[in-house]
Amino acid sequence: MVDIENLTLRQILSNDDTTKLSLGSEVYTPLKIFLKKSALDFHQYEIAKTYVLVNQVSSSSSRIWGYITLMNSEVVLNEGQRPQESASTSRYEAFPAVKIARLAIDKALQGNGFGTKMLDWCINHVKLAIMPHVGCRFIVVDAKRDSVSFYEKSGFVLLDTEANRSDDHPLMFFDLYKSNS
Ligand SMILES: CC(C)(COP(=O)(O)OP(=O)(O)OC[C@H]1O[C@@H](n2cnc3c(N)ncnc32)[C@H](O)[C@@H]1OP(=O)(O)O)[C@@H](O)C(=O)NCCC(=O)NCCS
Repeated sequence: MVDIENLTLRQILSNDDTTKLSLGSEVYTPLKIFLKKSALDFHQYEIAKTYVLVNQVSSSSSRIWGYITLMNSEVVLNEGQRPQESASTSRYEAFPAVKIARLAIDKALQGNGFGTKMLDWCINHVKLAIMPHVGCRFIVVDAKRDSVSFYEKSGFVLLDTEANRSDDHPLMFFDLYKSNS
């Protein structure tokens, strides 16, 4: 049983139980393997930071009910989708971004708003912890085809190229500056 009331999001710890996450389809096995084998190393060695959804009152090794992994990145945009606020900004093709490298919610919790809450948290976290200190205009994700509409509901848009629209993992981005104005 999931104790929904007491779930909290925090950075991954070395004694977390990374083995129990269940995503319901073999298609998502790479997301389980990343959590089990690589997330902590990437976290400790400053490659990508993983935040896990755990029961905050659990005393022993925490069972993970979802996770999101973030890293620095950049996004190359079409002329029509580049920031147009000034001539100086629109001259560039590549813009600074934070990438959602992984996102998963346990099957037992899917469809209850936790994925959306994790996206909201990510957007606010980048706005507070990164944007005021280091240039960062976008959040990007290589979405799974099935999850495009999930990201669209939170304001992400598809990179508007034919190749991207037909890609199995189309690139999507969220404009942090525009969402503030
Ligand atoms: C995709 C995922 C993170 C969404 O998390 P979630 O907690 O189930 O999503 P939410 O409950 O916040 O759903 C928000 C909305 O998106 C919709 N949605 C959720 N998952 C969706 C999907 N895979 N495809 C289309 N729509 C989806 C929901 O129906 C809901 O719509 P509504 O507000 O109109 O009811 C989760 O289902 C998951 O981990 N899936 C397996 C792994 C995966 O696909 N990860 C994404 C990698 S890019």
